[in-house]
Amino acid sequence: MQQLTDAFARKFYYLRLSITDVCNFRCTYCLPDGYRPNGHDNKSFLSLDEIRRVSRAFANLGTEKVRLTGGEPSLRRDFCDIIAAIRENKTIRTVAVTTNGYRLARDVAQWRDAGLTAINVSVDSLDHRQFHAITGQDKFLQVMAGIDAAFAAGFEKVKVNAVLMRDVNDTSLNAFLAWIKPRPIQLRFIELMETGDGSDLFRKHHVSGGVIRTQLLAQGWQLQPRSRSDGPAQVFQHPDYQGEIGLIMPYEKDFCASCNRLRVSAMGNLHLCLFGEQGIPLRDLLADDLQQDALAMRIQGGLQTKKQTHFLHQGNTGITQNLSFIGG
Ligand code: 5AD
Ligand code: SF4
Repeated sequence: MQQLTDAFARKFYYLRLSITDVCNFRCTYCLPDGYRPNGHDNKSFLSLDEIRRVSRAFANLGTEKVRLTGGEPSLRRDFCDIIAAIRENKTIRTVAVTTNGYRLARDVAQWRDAGLTAINVSVDSLDHRQFHAITGQDKFLQVMAGIDAAFAAGFEKVKVNAVLMRDVNDTSLNAFLAWIKPRPIQLRFIELMETGDGSDLFRKHHVSGGVIRTQLLAQGWQLQPRSRSDGPAQVFQHPDYQGEIGLIMPYEKDFCASCNRLRVSAMGNLHLCLFGEQGIPLRDLLADDLQQDALAMRIQGGLQTKKQTHFLHQGNTGITQNLSFIGG
């Protein structure tokens, strides 16, 4: 089988596929004013058949893991069909979703039946008032019930994302640790990233994940060796805890060296990096089954132009106004 490889010998096993830009939360760092349709209506997002074709092309190029993102991917009515369509590719062994958790309690069992294998839920605060202030939705208890429902439905582990923000949750490590002590949750602190819309927020709230790492190491947590498909998280474990801590630090030196992911937006553009480019259109090759070879060639060819690293350090966020169209 072919394996997607770039000019820096990085191999790409992992596709993050956005299936909608629409979101019903208003996270301060992403969509503070809520979702606004951007000149296209819902119907213009990739259809089920287009998703089937794009996932088949990536499977044929060695992709082993697909993460569905948004926006909020579970707002799509055909979400279960999308999961099942991706599972039709036998070599894609992991189908994951990143969700705000809004629909988890109601629907997670159906997602599992459709073939979903992994879940990431965003929870930036364990204080329901602060959760409301960050997300614009008073749904903390509903999201917590959703995480319980995921375990009840048979998921053995759940990942939780918390965007690390100074004066918001950077002093909450102990509350998070108490929460994951008896639960198989991998809590991942993600450094706030600068976006076109979020420069002020970034200046006010960006803090290095190093502050968390120092506290973890002082409390006996240990950095785990990385496996190939882990991506750029540093994972810490502690013998007294069922849960784990992950740190995602895009501003750390060499962060991009372990990049193993490609992204496709809900409009069908291939993005080689989260930051700083327009995307390579794939959609004209998704209309029927006859263009799979051309599609594979365009993906492979596009990948040869992938840059070695992002330009965030230079304050260059490229065209990325916010991450709602590409799911982080
Ligand atoms: N910085 C860091 N992470 C972000 N996300 C969205 N916007 C940002 C940003 N500016 C990530 C969060 C959220 C996921 C859906 O996208 O981790 O949990
Ligand atoms: Fe919605 Fe996720 Fe953006 Fe929050 S971070 S507004 S949940 S897309």
